Amino acid sequence: MAGSNFLQFPADFLWGVATSAYQIEGAWNEDGKGPSIWDTFSHQPGRIANNENGDVAADHYHRWAEDVQLMAEMGLKAYRFSIAWTRVIPDGKGPVNQTGLDFYDRLVDALLRRGIQPIPTLFHYDLPQALQDQGGWPNRATADRFAEYAEVVGRRLGDRVTWWITHNEPQVSAMAGYLRGDHAPGIKDMRAAQAAAHHLLLSHGKAVEALLTVVRLDAHVGITLNLTPVYPASDSEEDRNAASRMDAAINGAFLEPVFRGRYPSLLLENAPALADYIRPGDMEIISAPIDFLGVNYYTRYVAKHDPSEPLLRCTQVFPPDSEYSSMWEIYPPGLYDLLRRVWEEYLPKTIFITENGVPVPDGQDFDGKVRDSRRIRYLRDHLIQVHRAIKDSIPIVGYLVWSLMDNFEWAYGYGMRFGLVYIPYPRLDRVIKESGHWYSRVIRQNGFNPIEPIP
Ligand code: FCB
Repeated sequence: MAGSNFLQFPADFLWGVATSAYQIEGAWNEDGKGPSIWDTFSHQPGRIANNENGDVAADHYHRWAEDVQLMAEMGLKAYRFSIAWTRVIPDGKGPVNQTGLDFYDRLVDALLRRGIQPIPTLFHYDLPQALQDQGGWPNRATADRFAEYAEVVGRRLGDRVTWWITHNEPQVSAMAGYLRGDHAPGIKDMRAAQAAAHHLLLSHGKAVEALLTVVRLDAHVGITLNLTPVYPASDSEEDRNAASRMDAAINGAFLEPVFRGRYPSLLLENAPALADYIRPGDMEIISAPIDFLGVNYYTRYVAKHDPSEPLLRCTQVFPPDSEYSSMWEIYPPGLYDLLRRVWEEYLPKTIFITENGVPVPDGQDFDGKVRDSRRIRYLRDHLIQVHRAIKDSIPIVGYLVWSLMDNFEWAYGYGMRFGLVYIPYPRLDRVIKESGHWYSRVIRQNGFNPIEPIP
């Protein structure tokens, strides 16, 4: 490609986008779907900004064909979506709802017809309410229900799908759902959160085993973790120790069990209740070999020693000269540091960047265009870091932007727009933003010139 500055990506690099079921599908009670904890939670007043919910969301359940067409026009090579457990098994266990499976079956076929790799995630926060009624993730039995569900989906789609993700961000499922309570099911209980985290990991290992018995031999099975590199606020020993504790709690707590079959000792010291839930054989199940690690990266964490914080004696600081989005600090070099660290410490077979993106308060100009140059800059600056990592021989197979289109951003509702495609609510039209056009060009050229001016 033209010019010496051009950053060329590997020939078969999987450029794509990611979404999740509850955030885009809508149709929350159609065609036999059972209620999930997100249906319950979002219907409770005061839980979500402006009391919004995902009842309609982006109406993808009805507009899926149009959305696949849009993805094809954008030239995408891969599409990560999640499967709603409650469409497939409405009560979380027991009878399978074939109509629910049919929806994903059609979606997979339509994607493959257009040369787009389908990458289903089996769990993206939307636990069947019926299972929450029996304790949810803090109940160990939920891990077995998850493995059964994984097998059902694997049997139906496993002849065609070659990329599988068990869980999305188990750290968020456990901590936002059961400790902070700002996600469904809205519980605030440290012990419940620790039990949930362990059982989520256990269910991952069990699902890997279940999938491997039913899917194609050439399938890749992995897990997606939200990883946040932690930097000490200063060089002091106190801040460095605080950073290590935080790192063990948010990153090591998931990386170590999956790759090394153990929890970090720093975590067990600071969260002793966790040990109560570990049974003999669990860590072997959790560390079942996987084919790739999915990495979601948005921001970093700058850690300062703070004795008033009861659990980890650590607090987050926000460097004043940095750049911020409406949710997080923007820190592109953190992605490189993270990829390097994960690669050096855990040697995953391959790494897939399964989410990266930024919320921007976008709107349409009078000519209908959405000029989101800030998103273009964010994506460009992070892709520069991805390219650096690839040049260093870190095996990165693909990169997925969060998200295809504006959608329901959990507790923030529709106020946070992450899409490459704009949705002018309450209308549900799809309008490709300037960032979407930019990304299409990057895909077409399989790279970009980092010093080219941003439109
Ligand atoms: C991640 C979630 C995804 C989306 C983005 C912004 O933590 O996986 O559903 O909410 O953040």
